[in-house]
Amino acid sequence: RISAAIIVAAGQGKRMGGKTRKQFLMLEGKEILAHTVDRFEEFSKIKEIVLVIGRDDIESVKAMVRKYGWKKISAVVCGGKERQDSVKCGLKALSLASEVVLIHDGVRPFVTEEMINCSIDAAQNFDGCVLGVPAKDTIKICDKDGMVLETPDRSTVWHIQTPQTFSRDLIEKAYEKAEKDGFFGTDDASVVEHYGAKIKVIHGSYQNIKITTREDILMGACFLEEERK
Ligand code: CTP
Ligand code: MG
Repeated sequence: RISAAIIVAAGQGKRMGGKTRKQFLMLEGKEILAHTVDRFEEFSKIKEIVLVIGRDDIESVKAMVRKYGWKKISAVVCGGKERQDSVKCGLKALSLASEVVLIHDGVRPFVTEEMINCSIDAAQNFDGCVLGVPAKDTIKICDKDGMVLETPDRSTVWHIQTPQTFSRDLIEKAYEKAEKDGFFGTDDASVVEHYGAKIKVIHGSYQNIKITTREDILMGACFLEEERK
């Protein structure tokens, strides 16, 4: 089955703050988004990449595609208000041939080939699969005043990452229904779960971080330095 990646990078980066949107911040002289795309360009199982970008950044990202010589980009499209809207834009832009879809955050540059290959395999055996790592800290469910409602058993709690992988048909149908129903999930899997799909969590890595706040930039720089050794 032919696999495609949708890389979403149309967010505002509010938690990072600053003038430059986080997907364009530099790590070792290269934009975070470019680190991510460079990896997908090298993964042999990925045949097509759709980039989802904010309206104001489309032209500069098209220039990046030329500068870095990316060969697999089939479309650079405009994202939407919520991440889910952006994924929907990406789904619409896929070429006809692609049958398996990996959805990935543009600001998650430490994805590996092993993660991609395991995800594609697992997506054959389940309705979909997501990467995750066991929670290190105890998680508490709280009310708006910060009063604890519940402490779930930590051994059952996972931090969920991307890529999140589905057969194209299944994710397209779920996203169409969600749009009609006005349902918003916080990740891609929660949208298909909402319509009854069975999702498998497979082990990602603690290094597969999403660059979200300033601390993550420092960590990312450390990971890159370690990779060079
Ligand atoms: N994203 C997107 N479209 C949106 C919102 C998010 O394509 N409307 C993308 C982001 O660009 C990012 C990924 O989804 O690559 C993960 O989202 P997140 O880390 O939340 O990024 P932002 O929404 O940009 O950051 P924040 O929530 O702090 O504003
Ligand atoms: Mg966000």
